Amino acid sequence: MNTTAQAVAPTAPSSAFADPLGMSAAQDRSAVLEELILKNPGHFRVLTGDRPTGRLHLGHYFGTLHNRVRLQNLGVEMYVIIADYQVLTDRDIADNLTEHVEELVLDYLAIGVNPARSTIFTHSAVPALNQLLLPFLSLVSVADLERNPTVKDEIAHSRQSTVSGLMFTYPAHQAADILFCKANLVPVGKDQLPHLELTRTIARRFNDRYSAGSAVFPRPDALLSNAPLLLGTDGGKMSKSRGNAITLAADADETARLIKGAKTDSERHIAYDPASRPEVSSLLLLAALCQNRTPEQIASDIGSAGAAALKKTVTEAVNEYLAPIRARRSEYANDRTYLREILREGNERANAVADKTLAEVRAAMNSRY
Ligand code: TRP
Repeated sequence: MNTTAQAVAPTAPSSAFADPLGMSAAQDRSAVLEELILKNPGHFRVLTGDRPTGRLHLGHYFGTLHNRVRLQNLGVEMYVIIADYQVLTDRDIADNLTEHVEELVLDYLAIGVNPARSTIFTHSAVPALNQLLLPFLSLVSVADLERNPTVKDEIAHSRQSTVSGLMFTYPAHQAADILFCKANLVPVGKDQLPHLELTRTIARRFNDRYSAGSAVFPRPDALLSNAPLLLGTDGGKMSKSRGNAITLAADADETARLIKGAKTDSERHIAYDPASRPEVSSLLLLAALCQNRTPEQIASDIGSAGAAALKKTVTEAVNEYLAPIRARRSEYANDRTYLREILREGNERANAVADKTLAEVRAAMNSRY
């Protein structure tokens, strides 16, 4: 930590420069929240979700999915949104949407999301949620939308030649995802922190403007995952679109092939050193996560046996860990009727909650006729 900078400029929070997303505050808060969750899981309602753009992979799994199931099993109420409208932020058409939505449901069921306890639903099937976007947009300035670092980054990487209005406004829509069910806890990675900050701003402004005294909306907290980042097999960020990800749905052979082709380095001795040996270290981490050991332990087992031995260890660890998840996944995959049923029920529940919240919003805004 740079204590000198703080000593020189005690009034200018160094976080504004070194930590533009407000990571360290969110990390401190998350530690406090973890304790509160253990003490009183029933106090929390979680909203979390994904864009239906492809199958989920190990980066998602150890980054967030695993944690969702943990929270659910602790007794936290959970809503899982399949954000189908959000797919259209950076592309013209959401390709294979029905298939991707069903694949997500399959992934959720396979990892242990229990539809009797958690509500799985899609954006586009919940009109009242989407209607919240209108009053919410009136509560944010164009400047609020324009300075969002995650949106800026997505624009920089977008394949579109123009930037759509949805790209700038989807964080306000995401606030509707979170607030329609009055979620007070949102497990996120750091890229989602700006959206959560906007959600908190919208909740506060709505309450100030329309419901002095009795708050319509809670100000939800981010629960930052402390899971370390896994790299893709090419050493870059693990991503659905880069072909460098091991999906939950992949079979054991495909997993072996992907790991066999993974980038390593030329040093024969295997050691955990994320700064100077990122690829080898990420593989060690993956095996460690699967075996509930430390990457250092795995490294010392392999010692000087080289990259081939490392890959063999990682392949076995991943395939063993994923075997029951994959078995459940293929069982559910044979029952599309059941999948549709889960979505229908989830959408029904989400609609009931959204209708109720919208009614409150309209009452607060004097627009019930
Ligand atoms: N933006 C998230 C992503 O890209 C998906 C998402 C949509 C989401 N709505 C949400 C996440 C609400 C958390 C809360 O992965």
